[in-house]
This record gives sequence, structure tokens and C-alpha cells, in this order.
Amino acid sequence: MNKILFPVQAEYLKHFTDHKDPLILEMEKYAHENNVPILDKNSAAFMEVVIKMLKPKRVLEIGTAIAYSSIRIARNLKKKSIIHTIEKSEDNIALAKAYIKRSDVEDKIIILAGNALNIMPALDKKYDFIFLDADKNEYAKLFEFSLALLKKGGVILVDNLLWHGLAAEEKIPSKYQRSTDYIRSFNKAFIERPELKASIISVGDGLGIGVKL
Ligand SMILES: C[S@@+](CC[C@H](N)C(=O)[O-])C[C@H]1O[C@@H](n2cnc3c(N)ncnc32)[C@H](O)[C@@H]1O
Repeated sequence: MNKILFPVQAEYLKHFTDHKDPLILEMEKYAHENNVPILDKNSAAFMEVVIKMLKPKRVLEIGTAIAYSSIRIARNLKKKSIIHTIEKSEDNIALAKAYIKRSDVEDKIIILAGNALNIMPALDKKYDFIFLDADKNEYAKLFEFSLALLKKGGVILVDNLLWHGLAAEEKIPSKYQRSTDYIRSFNKAFIERPELKASIISVGDGLGIGVKL
């Protein structure tokens, strides 16, 4: 059950974001059947609008998984724009490569294989748009690296900031207490960061969006 929107509203909104593209539908099915945590459909639709508005030339994604969000981003980029996407799981990289090959945006997506904690400090050219969607317990460090790599006026999007609704709950099941505390303290840092004008919106699992000042 969606714990952020009331179920009836979530169900209603879902109809607007159902995709028609066979590859996207196949990837959603694969992710569902194999428990791969890809971006929520409403969040993906929102992100596509942001990409169209910003027209970023250089995009960095942290957390490729099977390249569902990479393909959705790449399809909304202008002709010469590119997306670099970082993934550490070899199994996911193999799946991502196969899906990217079948997509119409193979020329726009470059996978950077390895741990983002090692890769990001070695990147020197800055980005217009960064999508952070990796392990939540590494968000603080990955956020620091992201800010350093974001151009002034560039936009960062961060997924899962409502943490399946738990970020706002009073009673947290003990096995989620640590991760919930972590997300809460990340959210505070994200919103209060002086170099960012940031907001957290209740789409999907909670999206943080910030522009670098
Ligand atoms: C939530 S999934 C990404 C989903 C993808 N963005 C999408 O919406 O289609 C997170 C992915 O990040 C990868 N990951 C997590 N921490 C990472 C790190 N430090 N460096 C590189 N990849 C990482 C995981 O292996 C996993 O495939």
C-alpha cells in the first residue's frame, strides 16, 4: 500500500503515468518480478518534465540498477546531451547494458562501473543535473560529492526522502529505526544546506529537489 498518498488518490494518479512504450513496460515488469527498486512511475514522469524544462547538457545519475531511469532521462535530453550513470553491481550493469542496447538512446548513456564513492571524487567536469538514487546509508557522502559536481544553477533530485512513509511516522518498526533516523537527518541537512534552495515533495517515495545557488 502507498503510505504517502491515500490509496484512492495514488490509484487515480497512476492512470496518468502508465507508460505505453513496450521496453519501459517490460522493464517495469522485470523490476516488479525481481524486486529491483526502480523509480516510482509518478516520480519518473515528474523527472521527465524537469529534464524537459532544464534541458541539461550533462546529467549524472548515481544508481543505475537496470537503467530504467537512465533511459527515461536520456529520452528527454536534447540531441547532444549525455547522461553518465554510476553502478557498482556487476549483475545490474549487465542487465542495464542489455536494456540500453535495445533502447533508442544508446548513444546518450554512458555507464561508469564501480562504487560512486570512488568514482565521483575522480570526476572533474561538472553537471547540470544530478539524480541521486543509491544506497540510502551513503546519501550524506554521495550528496557532498554531488554538490561539488553540480554547476551553479544546476538541479539535484534525490529519491526516497519520505522513506515509504516512515520519515513522517511516530512509531517506527525497530528494524527500520536506524534507516529512518538516517533519512530524517539527511532531509534536515538537504533542506538547510546554504548552497541549495531545496524542497521535498510528496511524489512517489518522496523526492528532494534543489537548485544550487
Ligand atoms: C534504487 S536502485 C536505482 C534505480 C534506478 N535509478 C532507477 O530508477 O531505475 C539503486 C542502485 O544503486 C546502486 N548503488 C548503490 N550504492 C551505490 C554506490 N555507492 N555506487 C554505485 N552504485 C550504487 C545499487 O547497486 C542499485 O542498483
